Amino acid sequence: MRALVVGNGGREHAIAWKLSQSDQITHVYCIPGNGGTARTPKCSNIAMGITDFEGIERFALVNNASLIVVGPEAPLAAGITDSLQGKGFEIFGPTQAGAQIESSKAWAKQLMESSGIPTAKAAVFEDAESAVDYVRTHGAPIVVKADGLASGKGVTVAQTVDEALSAIKAAFSGRFGDAGQRLVIEEYLTGQEVSVLAVTDGQTIRALLPAQDHKTIGEGDVGANTGGMGAYAPTPILPSTLLNRVQTEILEPTLHALQRQSIDYRGVLYAGLIITPEGEPKVIEFNCRFGDPEIQVVLPLLDMPFDQLLLACTQQTLAELPPIPWKDAAAACVVMASGGYPGAYQRGFKISGFEVANEQGAVVFHAGTKLTGDDIVTDGGRVLGVTSLGDTFEVAIAQAYKAVDAIQFENSYHRRDIGHRVLK
Ligand code: AMP
Ligand code: GLY
Repeated sequence: MRALVVGNGGREHAIAWKLSQSDQITHVYCIPGNGGTARTPKCSNIAMGITDFEGIERFALVNNASLIVVGPEAPLAAGITDSLQGKGFEIFGPTQAGAQIESSKAWAKQLMESSGIPTAKAAVFEDAESAVDYVRTHGAPIVVKADGLASGKGVTVAQTVDEALSAIKAAFSGRFGDAGQRLVIEEYLTGQEVSVLAVTDGQTIRALLPAQDHKTIGEGDVGANTGGMGAYAPTPILPSTLLNRVQTEILEPTLHALQRQSIDYRGVLYAGLIITPEGEPKVIEFNCRFGDPEIQVVLPLLDMPFDQLLLACTQQTLAELPPIPWKDAAAACVVMASGGYPGAYQRGFKISGFEVANEQGAVVFHAGTKLTGDDIVTDGGRVLGVTSLGDTFEVAIAQAYKAVDAIQFENSYHRRDIGHRVLK
């Protein structure tokens, strides 16, 4: 079978890498892919836009790529699955209606509230005046969220009322375009965050190993929010008793709520949770795609052919699959970024040291890179995800850093404290 992966980040490199290891998969096309997928055995890059659904369909038909795995949320929210379904493909990723769970925070909140799924208390606003009144009444800290997709920049955790009021003003004056013309304003929760990436065929839902990422740019978990500067799995913060509760109190009720809306959801349901000081898991957000870099630590631990798991979702046979087997190891990923990220940064610097990093036993997933001639050069904010496995987190993390230290490019930045929560 040939597969086609849509996207060009670290997540998509990890997906293509794992698929390429399956005996059943003869080739993986990446649209458009990156420097890492260009160099992965059995993989090749195809220059095409990720929302060019007609182009993707034609390419997949001509090249007999029958398994289509959609990496990022944008094409899902734009309806790639609706556009390709019924045409003989196995498509992993929800329809546009299902993708609303990520593309509209108000819709997701309404779904959770109507099904009693534990989440922060919230209200939805379509005009600045009532949003301002609400914030004045409730005080700070409080969280202001743009309803729509805003490239991870639509959330303001406001420590003061003034901060919340400026976030409201910015959103309604068009800072996030249409995505910010509706706001969800919600209760501020404290506790550690954990990512539960689950896969579903629309009838059965199975959680993958729970992971944690480091969201901010600075060591000690301070500074601006990023897509994620590192991750590790399986996190001890979600032992099996708590994971079982997440399954029965969050994942299954959410799937049932989607079913009640006649949504046939086959793909990833990613629950971003906070574990409150009382030990209660509450939903911070849902996403309709794998978390990145979380998937870069989850897939190396998966001990079965990835295509089998994805096909069980697209073919609605997930209930028949035995429990998902996992390697008995810890995984850690350190993200190497371009200096300046998440603000402005330069591109085009040559990256060296991959061979030494591989000799250290690390898998180097590429995010913002491209192949130029024979060189891999930087081409994005998050450049590489350097992942290692070990018997313990200590070993996995130390090994990942050895590999990081072997890799060089101009202006490179990474945090030195990835995994500090599990090293204490
Ligand atoms: P989201 O895009 O909804 O995941 O929000 C981005 C980040 O903002 C989350 O990863 C949290 O760190 C933070 N956040 C979102 N909602 C809340 C909340 N209700 N309480 C505290 N922090 C939050
Ligand atoms: N690492 C967080 C996310 O993928 O949304």
